[in-house]
Amino acid sequence: MNSTVTFDDAPPAGTINFGIGQPSADLLPVDILREASEAFFRKAQPIELNYGVMQGDERFLRSLAGLLTERYCAPVAPESLFVTAGNSQAIDYVSTVFATAGDTVFVEEPSYFLAFQIFRDHDLNVVGIPVDGEGLIPGELEAALERHRPAFVYTIPSYHNPGGHCMTSARREQLVALSKEHDFLIVADEVYQLLFYDEAPPPAFGTMIDSDTVLSLGSFSKILAPALRLGWIQTSPALQRRMRANGYSNSGGSINHYVSHIAREAIDLGLQAAHIETLQSRLGSRSDAMHQALGLHFGDLAEWSRPGGGYFYWLQFAEHVDTTPLKRKAAALETGFQPGAVFSSKGALHNCLRLSFAHYGEDDIREGIARLRKVFR
Ligand SMILES: Cc1ncc(COP(=O)(O)O)c(C=O)c1O
Repeated sequence: MNSTVTFDDAPPAGTINFGIGQPSADLLPVDILREASEAFFRKAQPIELNYGVMQGDERFLRSLAGLLTERYCAPVAPESLFVTAGNSQAIDYVSTVFATAGDTVFVEEPSYFLAFQIFRDHDLNVVGIPVDGEGLIPGELEAALERHRPAFVYTIPSYHNPGGHCMTSARREQLVALSKEHDFLIVADEVYQLLFYDEAPPPAFGTMIDSDTVLSLGSFSKILAPALRLGWIQTSPALQRRMRANGYSNSGGSINHYVSHIAREAIDLGLQAAHIETLQSRLGSRSDAMHQALGLHFGDLAEWSRPGGGYFYWLQFAEHVDTTPLKRKAAALETGFQPGAVFSSKGALHNCLRLSFAHYGEDDIREGIARLRKVFR
């Protein structure tokens, strides 16, 4: 299956492609980044353009810790944070630092399809563990732990990509308990943790780092702009030490020093918090529009749950439906989706598909879902 993505080609005019898991242009905050950049350059010192300290600029870490403390309603210490170039780079980095070629890693089934290739780049053996609407299924995880000793479990706990669901607090705690008992790490990809549209999700894994088994990966891609390539890993002092012993960090210092200055200004000026609220309101309305349109057109054909945040709906059709070949038919009708099989570590989930509501406004969402219905005639 060709799962290569292109990032800068706009879809053909008139096409409403729900396969695109990226924000629409009107959600990308040029004005905020202009204001934050101007604020930085008004007082910039040459030293700020030199290499930065490995873990990240102290002032940025303080500002980010303040933002997360406020948003998580739980204390986040600046020392627990480590700057990255976004979650894709962080996944690659933890695969370098905390795994060795030939190791097994557990992923959720389904999971974020682009992470599979990162793990395979490191010659890691990817094993899928089934999930339900509450996250990883404990019995399945325990059965897999009898057969494998994973270096880590990669999970997307809140507003899962592609599932849309949140792992419950009880399952989060159970996973941490298992990680201590069986000596594996938890790589929690918390990229959607702050993007909730109703009530807040269960506490982030970032609030559970005292176990010494948790790495919480966060990113500015979904709360400010993907082009920044800026994120963080939140973890305990012992795991921080292992990251700082890495040759890449040792050679280059802070992984995204310059951009962290701009993001710090955006946080300190209150622009970041305001933008999260704008996104919550705008994306929440788009999610509502998609839910209504699905109810109108797909109620008799598929099952789905309304996600409380994030970007995605995950539709499950009858077992005999194969969504992969339908992608071509959807393109002919000027619409699109991501077929379920790309999110499976073993080519299963053929009767599912993922829809993103982040790339189009409400009118397009209503029109696109009506078009998509014709694909399943
Ligand atoms: C679950 C998940 N992880 C990681 C990423 C990529 O994050 P970043 O842009 O920070 O590399 C995405 C983007 O779609 C995602 O959905």
